[in-house]
Amino acid sequence: MTQLTNGKVHENVSTGSERLLARARHSIAGGDNSTMRVLPYHLPLVATRGEGSRVWDIDGQSYIDLNMAYGPLIFGHRPPAILDAVVRQITESGTQLGFPAEVSVRVAEKVKGLFPHIELLRFSSTGTEAIVAALRLARAFTGKRYIIAFEGHYHGSSDNIFHRYHAPIEQLPAGPYGPALPGTMGMNGAPRDVLVCRWNSPEALEQCLKDHQGQVAAVIMEPVMGNGGVIAPEPDFLDNVRAMTKDHEALLIFDEVITGMRVAAGGAQQRFGVEADITILSKALGGGFPISALGSTKEIMQSIVEGKLFHGGVYSGNTMVMAAADAALDEMHRHGEAIYTHLDAIAAQLGDGIDEILTRLGVPHQVQYVGPMLSMFLTHDDVGPLLNYREVRQNCDFEKFIRFQHQLQRSGVYFHPNQFEPMFLSTAHSHEDIATVLERIEDAARAVLLA
Ligand SMILES: Cc1ncc(COP(=O)(O)O)c(C=O)c1O
Repeated sequence: MTQLTNGKVHENVSTGSERLLARARHSIAGGDNSTMRVLPYHLPLVATRGEGSRVWDIDGQSYIDLNMAYGPLIFGHRPPAILDAVVRQITESGTQLGFPAEVSVRVAEKVKGLFPHIELLRFSSTGTEAIVAALRLARAFTGKRYIIAFEGHYHGSSDNIFHRYHAPIEQLPAGPYGPALPGTMGMNGAPRDVLVCRWNSPEALEQCLKDHQGQVAAVIMEPVMGNGGVIAPEPDFLDNVRAMTKDHEALLIFDEVITGMRVAAGGAQQRFGVEADITILSKALGGGFPISALGSTKEIMQSIVEGKLFHGGVYSGNTMVMAAADAALDEMHRHGEAIYTHLDAIAAQLGDGIDEILTRLGVPHQVQYVGPMLSMFLTHDDVGPLLNYREVRQNCDFEKFIRFQHQLQRSGVYFHPNQFEPMFLSTAHSHEDIATVLERIEDAARAVLLA
């Protein structure tokens, strides 16, 4: 066990984070409430508070945070405008009322202004819930059976869609697509009627649609891959998918849980100029509060309007979270394009900076980013752009990445130790923060990657 204080490494010191996690394991299964936060290769970090671009651990060590709670903190930790709105809401009106409330209408109207295809919305609390509803809606609307998803794409942990999105190469189908493998134990054969296809390949999708002619309810994807490492759609890929889904009368669902309000205010749809039939939003929309949204046309949403398709939840659209989203949307409106210009600029500074350092040091790598979601892939050999999940899986050195991440965590920079997880930047990150991160990346690379 090592601890670092002011650049000095102390061996065999038990940290506050280690002690708290040891205690937590007696009351919380595995020590925390999400498997992704306590993987066996995590260097223990128990956080006590965040502010702007930084997070502090229980020992008082600060970190420049490049994880941003897995994406929601688009305005950084504790953004004043959002916190003020929430405090006002809960002190004047309560956390939730259990009745329709105006704040939720305001949020819906503002989201509609950003996503032109959306005529009606429903809110819920998590991405998983909104996606379950979207898949049900697509099957109800089309009367068809199959859902097509993609290798490396994650759409929440429900039995409806949780496939083994990080499957080892030998478990992937030999052809362009195959049946979905269960994402975890206990799924009793689910996800049912889900096919998983190679991404960024119009040919693979065309084949899958043709082989299931007239039976595909929807194609669902992250329009920029985030959960298998950051990969941009190839030029024309999204347009091709849009055309193919129309030809086959299947709905196109964009899971913009990560990309919505992140790669542009209007998400990947604005950035790439393609419209989905159903859009799912979550993380950045709440600026750190648990919200998700499902939006579509009046025609597709009609079964929900008529109450024939059940959609609901005790916490769906609660006023506390809606106040947060309302304030987040106001911030986006108030600062307009300046937000995305800044996010793109710091992402380019970080991406180009990492590329320059690792190239100079002769460390094989590939940096890919779309707006403020970025992957620094450490690869076995020199490679070109990685275009799909298989290429990431085959080319990346996951062990080396973990060692590098540990070194950076010890030096006060945090990002997730699994290189499938993107780094997330926020408006609270300054050019100075990025310059500091780059200095520490160079030091860490010299320390652990040049052996
Ligand atoms: C693209 C995408 N879809 C869906 C989800 C599931 O969201 P939640 O964890 O809020 O259920 C996530 C979560 O990280 C995600 O990244």
